[in-house]
Amino acid sequence: MSETILLTGANGKTGRAILKKLVGLQLPVKVFIRDKDQWQDLKALGAAGFAVGDMLDADSIDSAVMGCQKLIHVGPPMHPDEKTITQSLIDAALKHNIGHFIYYSVMHPLRRDVRHHSLKLDTEEVLIESGLPYTILQPIRYMQHLLPIWPKVVEQGIHAMPFNTEVMFNVVDLEDLAEATAIVAAEHGHYFATYELAGRESLSQTDMAAIISEVIGKPVEAQAISLQQVEENARAKGFNEDRVKQMVIMNKHYDDCGFLGNPNVLRWILGRDPTLYREFVERLHQA
Ligand SMILES: NC(=O)c1ccc[n+]([C@@H]2O[C@H](COP(=O)([O-])OP(=O)(O)OC[C@H]3O[C@@H](n4cnc5c(N)ncnc54)[C@H](OP(=O)(O)O)[C@@H]3O)[C@@H](O)[C@H]2O)c1
Repeated sequence: MSETILLTGANGKTGRAILKKLVGLQLPVKVFIRDKDQWQDLKALGAAGFAVGDMLDADSIDSAVMGCQKLIHVGPPMHPDEKTITQSLIDAALKHNIGHFIYYSVMHPLRRDVRHHSLKLDTEEVLIESGLPYTILQPIRYMQHLLPIWPKVVEQGIHAMPFNTEVMFNVVDLEDLAEATAIVAAEHGHYFATYELAGRESLSQTDMAAIISEVIGKPVEAQAISLQQVEENARAKGFNEDRVKQMVIMNKHYDDCGFLGNPNVLRWILGRDPTLYREFVERLHQA
């Protein structure tokens, strides 16, 4: 019988994408959710079971981990308690003999200027030192950051993101990341490994706008949003002040340094080339 995988953050963007790929590989998944009302949706996606709890509550983590054999931890974005949350999961994993702990981190956690990168680095250290068989996944920025601005791109021909229009990113398709995560969970042989996961092309906002323009058949202009606008947008979305501050810091850092990476590891895990930005945009345009 297949081993049950506990998936945290299951109701989020990343969690749902990973859940679908795990289900596609016929793997039984128990989802960790914080509201029972989320269960019906995830059950419809193929989840086999659920546990309701809060990642900040070690007891609810402990009872969720019980009975599982593997664990994929997708933490809440930019959370100040990333390390404490993961420590609770590690404690429960050790107690309940979890055979594979997959931690969804971020590429370049050593970027100390950005708190959530730095916290993920601290967390990786704790996991490595725990003695658990682990795989650390380090994804770069998602192509899916286009989704919230897609209507404006299509209707107004404006591609606006919070960094200058020439700084470069190796954006990656979340669908590829989810597939790679599921493969790592399904296969043996990924223990004690850290994998950087990036897309194939180094693209600026100007390059992305040009690709979109060709796909949708109308002019698209790249524009840089100010950090003040980032702050206002984040508040309008209802993010707390800590998250607002971290978003500004992150985008300032990306504006200065970009986010470049290499696709070789992702290509090796998938056994095919990672998705091109043009292919992603075509998929979005046809949806
Ligand atoms: N976006 C990127 O480009 C990128 C790149 C690399 C790595 N990552 C990493 O990917 C991870 C997931 O990001 P995402 O965008 O998928 O996040 P998301 O859509 O906001 O999903 C986060 C999930 O965590 C759940 N959650 C939050 N706080 C919780 C708590 N205290 N207890 C239990 N559940 C809780 C949320 O529950 P509710 O559904 O109830 O709100 C939600 O389902 C993050 O760690 C991020 O750093 C993202």
